[in-house]
Amino acid sequence: MRSTSPAPPHDAYPPHAETGGAAARRYHARYGSVLPAIDPAAGSAAPKRHPGTPLLPLPFPPVLPSPPGDRGPAAAMERLGALLALLNGVTRVDWTGAGVTVGRPVPSGGGAYPGEVYVATADGLCHYLPSAHALELLSPVDHRAEVARALDGPPHDPPESALLITTRLDANLARYGPFGHRLQALDTGVLTGQALTLLESANAAPTAHALFADEELGHLLGLDSATERVHTVVTARTPGAIDPDVPLLRRRTARSGFEPVPLPSATLLAVLEEAARPIPLDHAAPADCALYVVAHRVTGLEPGCHRRDARTGELVRVAGGITPRGLFPPNGPGELAGFEAACAVLVTGDYESGYPGHGDRWYRMLNLRAGVIGQRIGLAAARAGLGAGLRCDVDTPAADAVLDTHPDRTTLLAVLLGQERGNGTPTCHLLGEPGPP
Ligand SMILES: Cc1cc2nc3c(=O)[nH]c(=O)nc-3n(C[C@H](O)[C@H](O)[C@H](O)COP(=O)(O)O)c2cc1C
Repeated sequence: MRSTSPAPPHDAYPPHAETGGAAARRYHARYGSVLPAIDPAAGSAAPKRHPGTPLLPLPFPPVLPSPPGDRGPAAAMERLGALLALLNGVTRVDWTGAGVTVGRPVPSGGGAYPGEVYVATADGLCHYLPSAHALELLSPVDHRAEVARALDGPPHDPPESALLITTRLDANLARYGPFGHRLQALDTGVLTGQALTLLESANAAPTAHALFADEELGHLLGLDSATERVHTVVTARTPGAIDPDVPLLRRRTARSGFEPVPLPSATLLAVLEEAARPIPLDHAAPADCALYVVAHRVTGLEPGCHRRDARTGELVRVAGGITPRGLFPPNGPGELAGFEAACAVLVTGDYESGYPGHGDRWYRMLNLRAGVIGQRIGLAAARAGLGAGLRCDVDTPAADAVLDTHPDRTTLLAVLLGQERGNGTPTCHLLGEPGPP
C-alpha cells in the first residue's frame, strides 16, 4: 500500500511553494502584524551542531587588529576567526537581573539567536560554532563556484569568500509562537548588516544576496528545508585586516533603561544618516524603508512623529500627540522603556510593493532590510555614546496610525534611543576593553 504523508496545512509558513505573495499576506495578517504572545519562561532551541565532523579550533581571543598583509594560512585563519567572532561569537559576559549571561556583538530577538553562519572559502565549506569559537569542516572541497552559480546575480568576479546565513525555523517559536518566523528574518538581517559592516571595514567589497536557488544552497549545506533555510549569502573579496572600531565591541541593548534627559537633535541626525546609507544588495527595492522618529525628549524637535526626508536628511513633522510610550501596549515592558527613551526610530516598509516582483520571498527580503538598518542604528548609537534597544513588541496599528503615507506603509522595527541609565549593566569584554567612546 502506498503511504501518503499528510498535506501541509493551508497556512503553513514559510510556504512550501511560491504563492506569489498570498502565503506571506496570510501569515502577516494572522501572525506577523499582531503583537507576539511572548512566553519568557520558554527556552530557545539548541544551536546547530554537526556531530562527527572535523573541528577546526580558531584562536581565541582573536588578535585585533588581525595581521594585515600576511597571506599565510595561519594569518588567514586568524583573520577569519576575528571576522566570525565579531559577527556572531561570544564576546562578553553580562551581569543582568537574570544572572550571568554571555553576550554577542549582534542583538537577537529574545536572545534566541536563530541565525547560523556557514563560510565557503578556497579551503572548503565550514559551519561556525560560536560557543566553541571553532569551525566544523563540512567539506574540504572549494564550493565557491557552486555558491556563485546558485545566485540570481552572481558577482562579476568569482567571490573569494562567501558567508551563508541561515535560520533555524524552530529556534524561537517556543517563546514567540509563529511570530518567531518574522523575527528570524529580522535577526538574519541584523547578522547580514554586521557582516556587511565588518567586510566593508576590511576592504572586502561585500554584497548581500537575497535572490538565489534556495534548494541548491540548502542541498550544498545539507539542510533539511523543514528545519533550516538559507536567508542571505554575503559574497566578498578576501578580507584584509579586521580592526573593529570601539563602538562595535561596545554595542549592546540598554538593559538598565534610559535617563530622562534630552538627546541633541544633531546626534540623532547623525545616527539616522548612518542608518540610511545605501545597502550593498543584489536587488533594488521597489520602495525604500523610510525612517520615522517619534520624539519625546529631543532638543529642537517637537514631541510627535517626524519623517526623515531621504533627499535632504531633514526631519519633517507629520503628526503630534504621540510619544514613544504610545507605540507599545499599556502596562507592558515596552511602555516603560518607551516612556524613558528620548525617542523611537521606526523602520518602515511596504510589503505590497514587492510581492508582484518577488512573491512570498519579498516578506523576508523586506524584514531582512529592516534588520540591516536596525543593526546600523545600534552601532551608530554606540558610536554616539547612546543607549539603544531594538523592539519588536510594538503595537503595529498604533505606530502605523501616525505615519503620513499610504496605507501599505507599515512599521517593521522600532529602536528606542536615549542615554542609558547610570553605568548600565556590568560587563566583562572578552576581546579586550573597548575604552571610552
Ligand atoms: C529583531 C529584534 C527584536 C527585538 N525585540 C525586542 C523587544 O521587543 N523587547 C526587548 O526587550 N528586546 C528586544 N530585542 C533585544 C534583544 O532582547 C537583545 O538583543 C538580546 O537579549 C541580546 O542582548 P544584547 O543586545 O544586549 O546583546 C530585540 C532584538 C532584535 C534583534
